[in-house]
Amino acid sequence: MSDKEKRFWLRCETKPFERRAALTPTTARKLINSGFTVYVERDQQRIFDDSEYETVGCKLVENNSWPNAPIDVPILGLKELAVSDSPLPHTHVQFAHCYKNQAGWSSVLARFYRGGGTLYDLEFLNDANGRRVAAFGFHAGFAGAAAGALAYAAQRNGKKLGPLEPYADEGAMVADVKAKLGGREKEVKALVIGALGRCGRGAVDLFRKIGLDENNILKWDLDETAKGGPFQEILDVDVFVNCIYLTTQIPPFLTEEQIYSVGTNRRLGVVVDVSCDTTNPNNPIPIYSVNTTFSEPTVAAVVGAGNSPLDVISIDHLPTLLPREASEQFSADLLPSLLEFPGRDHVRVWTDAKRLYEEKLAEAAKVEKL
Ligand SMILES: NC(=O)c1ccc[n+]([C@@H]2O[C@H](COP(=O)([O-])OP(=O)(O)OC[C@H]3O[C@@H](n4cnc5c(N)ncnc54)[C@H](O)[C@@H]3O)[C@@H](O)[C@H]2O)c1
Repeated sequence: MSDKEKRFWLRCETKPFERRAALTPTTARKLINSGFTVYVERDQQRIFDDSEYETVGCKLVENNSWPNAPIDVPILGLKELAVSDSPLPHTHVQFAHCYKNQAGWSSVLARFYRGGGTLYDLEFLNDANGRRVAAFGFHAGFAGAAAGALAYAAQRNGKKLGPLEPYADEGAMVADVKAKLGGREKEVKALVIGALGRCGRGAVDLFRKIGLDENNILKWDLDETAKGGPFQEILDVDVFVNCIYLTTQIPPFLTEEQIYSVGTNRRLGVVVDVSCDTTNPNNPIPIYSVNTTFSEPTVAAVVGAGNSPLDVISIDHLPTLLPREASEQFSADLLPSLLEFPGRDHVRVWTDAKRLYEEKLAEAAKVEKL
């Protein structure tokens, strides 16, 4: 089987607040050095300036002009396309969020069916061990821990955490959290569960960077939770960050009854549920029921009259708070697979993704009666 032309078209993102990019100037340069032609749509929303792409040799094209791109140029994007009925004739590489029966899943796939295009979903690009080749976990944990520390700082001042805005870079985030803690970082004790995973490592890294004592960063993973919850240890820290990858039903880590029963005898002030299994019936932190947002980052858990507040953060798009670093890390992890994309008809990571697409497409065609 022969390889296809070495080309990519980075489209703009249209999802509100999405500043990240699947391809950064750093990785675009590496593709170009390997003989690729990289078209980049001008995009004010993206954290990277258009000029950064131009400098490394990308060809800039008009914003949102991909529908008119030559049919054989693969379109690279991050988040889902704006809702529409128009057929999709191109090959798209992106997160489409339509393989798990999400709302509107079959109508998204119907657009590919009608247009004759192909979807390679970034969520389902796996290495030979079944691990995602690229995921945003590290910066989700990092940003989640930062939001947790900010909520803790606000609480200490008798306030609720106000709206969160994306930071220019990691240094700005760390400096802001330190400033808001006002020198209290040595007083803070945190527990990260899922500490060996992507998100968990990011959360631990943030706590280190803002200056917590290493002894005050408790790191738990499967071994520590094997005894089964609920865990008193969670009530004995200031900030608890949950970063587990939930696969089966497990005993809850924390319950409303437990919080009620300890009354004023609780140190815990902030729970950050990075895992965000909010509507999952097996959510191990069944003390809240909504996803919080950047404009309203916390929701109060029910704690009983006279007890200190317990704020929960359950934002499901945390890496958006650090668009530059999150994009750089994701794009760097994706690069080896992108370099192999011209051989997508025989390279395993891509043939697996295409097989999955074809299965889902067939399911959607039935549902949509195509
Ligand atoms: N909120 C967000 O913005 C955001 C962003 C990215 C990922 N996530 C979510 O975060 C979760 C973790 O993702 P990841 O990429 O870090 O996963 P990962 O597989 O890299 O890490 C998960 C870790 O959890 C541990 N774990 C699993 N079950 C456990 C248990 N019962 N007790 C203790 N540890 C346990 C695993 O051993 C592993 O170390 C996923 O649910 C993912 O969807 C959320």
